[in-house]
Amino acid sequence: MNSHDRTELILPDLAALEDFGRRLGRSAVAGEVICLYGPLGAGKTTLTRAIAAGLEVPPAQPVTSPTFALIHEHQGRLPLFHLDLYRLSDDEEELLELGIEDYLYGDGVCVIEWAERLGGLLPARHLEVRLDFQDQSADSDPEEETGRLVIVIPH
Ligand SMILES: Nc1ncnc2c1ncn2[C@@H]1O[C@H](COP(=O)(O)OP(=O)(O)OP(=O)(O)O)[C@@H](O)[C@H]1O
Ligand SMILES: [Mg+2]
Repeated sequence: MNSHDRTELILPDLAALEDFGRRLGRSAVAGEVICLYGPLGAGKTTLTRAIAAGLEVPPAQPVTSPTFALIHEHQGRLPLFHLDLYRLSDDEEELLELGIEDYLYGDGVCVIEWAERLGGLLPARHLEVRLDFQDQSADSDPEEETGRLVIVIPH
């Protein structure tokens, strides 16, 4: 069922985005699926790192982008399954072979970068988090600290 509570947040700097992520991680429950959308460099991995901190994943287990592995698993207060589907070919077969359903419907917290690639495997219950640059001008450096606009929609 689609919910219409849509929250729009303006996060003026990196610290604000990290704070938002830690709060998501602290309040996450087993089985939660957090789908991240947004352009390259918008901060999906950075947000995942903050969610991991909120889930008490020890700093000794650094959260890096699982672009090639597709999935990294971390152990915090709950297991964290960090997926990055950027390099996925557009077929669900590859996701099923990866055992994605065990992660999506398991007892950890799934955080999925490029979640649009899930296609028909998108679970009905998930939290949609859309990240975008705020006031990004064409010639600015995306790595430079800038504000982000975040839209959160629970489904
Ligand atoms: N307010 C901010 N929020 C998030 N990241 C920021 C912010 N300001 C600057 N940054 C920087 O922007 C970069 C975001 O990179 P990150 O890898 O998190 O993006 P991504 O969305 O995961 O990209 P990709 O699509 O390649 O996976 C980082 O270098 C981060 O330090
Ligand atoms: Mg990333």
